[in-house]
Amino acid sequence: MSDAQTPAARPANPRFSSGPCAKPPVFSLDTLQDAALGRSHRAAIGKAKLKQAIDETREVLGVPEDYRIGIVPASDTGAFEMAMWTMLGERPVEMVAWESFGAGWVTDAVKQLMLDANVHEAEYGQIVDMAALNYDNDVCFTWNGTTSGVRVPSGDVIPADRKGLTLCDATSAAFAQDLPWDKLDVATFSWQKVLGGEAAHGMLILSPRAVERLESYTPPWPLPKIFRLTKGGKLIEGIFRGETINTPSMLAVEDYLQALAWAKSVGGLKGLIARADRNTAVVADFVARNDWIDFLAEDPAIRSNTSVCLKFTDPSIHDGAAFAKAVAKRLEAEGVAFDIGAYRDAPPGLRIWCGGTVEASDIEALMPWIDWAYRAELDAQARAA
Ligand SMILES: Cc1ncc(COP(=O)(O)O)c(C=O)c1O
Repeated sequence: MSDAQTPAARPANPRFSSGPCAKPPVFSLDTLQDAALGRSHRAAIGKAKLKQAIDETREVLGVPEDYRIGIVPASDTGAFEMAMWTMLGERPVEMVAWESFGAGWVTDAVKQLMLDANVHEAEYGQIVDMAALNYDNDVCFTWNGTTSGVRVPSGDVIPADRKGLTLCDATSAAFAQDLPWDKLDVATFSWQKVLGGEAAHGMLILSPRAVERLESYTPPWPLPKIFRLTKGGKLIEGIFRGETINTPSMLAVEDYLQALAWAKSVGGLKGLIARADRNTAVVADFVARNDWIDFLAEDPAIRSNTSVCLKFTDPSIHDGAAFAKAVAKRLEAEGVAFDIGAYRDAPPGLRIWCGGTVEASDIEALMPWIDWAYRAELDAQARAA
């Protein structure tokens, strides 16, 4: 297929990566001028910025006043493992996974912490029946499976009077999906996901019951300093006011503050959800119009509006993995879509980030290019046969 047949329009921003995700459309390095660079994070200016990041996170996400929000090391992984290492082991745990990251938490529970764990897994594209879990145990799950494009449809089945804690990795859901705070005892995310911030720092959100667990239970294993949330059996409250355990990047903090300001400018959480839904609807229209591509998530009720995963369904494709890779490579070479190959452990296909920092006009411009790359690759396959 010749270049003459390429679509006329190109996405203005070809960044559709599922993490780090596209920065807000208004981003420029100039917006970081106010960063407290070269200053101590313990100085008044540094502390104020860290506290502002916590306060505005609460405001935008609608986190209840009696929940703690902390900025912790090591991105979402740090936040989630910190919760696992400090709270689990008090009772058995239900480990729930339907894609790669959830599977990683299962490994942590079973092979590292060696917990009394009931493991519930579903194939890529499907979800575990959340109603079938024992909520008298602790439950660890991922709200939005970034590598399968499957999300929990709602928290309705989680009982309000559960005895165990729910630990939720919400990194590709926060700021794009409604999270039922009353059903979540621990929620974690990274700045690098839906708001297009920088990696390295994780957000740890704790319900009063999670704090109660921290103050009443001491795990039998040693905890490194960066996991320690209590001192002398009491929560270290300073962490939840911005007195971080170790040194944060004040540049990343400033960047997150700018992302939050942008989030507020588009209508806060509601506006962000609407943007992600609109982006996903553009992909859904495209899928509906073409019989050679489909969502990896089988049931529309569990389809993600952030990490949208697609599979090629054309039976004439010989080698699905090679085909999908070649399509992604073609799009990258054309400069119209970066980083949209499926995750390395996921079934072959494409993954298009539809979170709120991506513009619907860019998703619209991308769709004809996917059609073009698919046809170009079919041609290449025919020529090679
Ligand atoms: C669901 C989920 N959990 C955890 C992670 C790890 O996040 P981080 O690299 O920010 O620690 C990711 C990253 O893509 C993710 O999608």
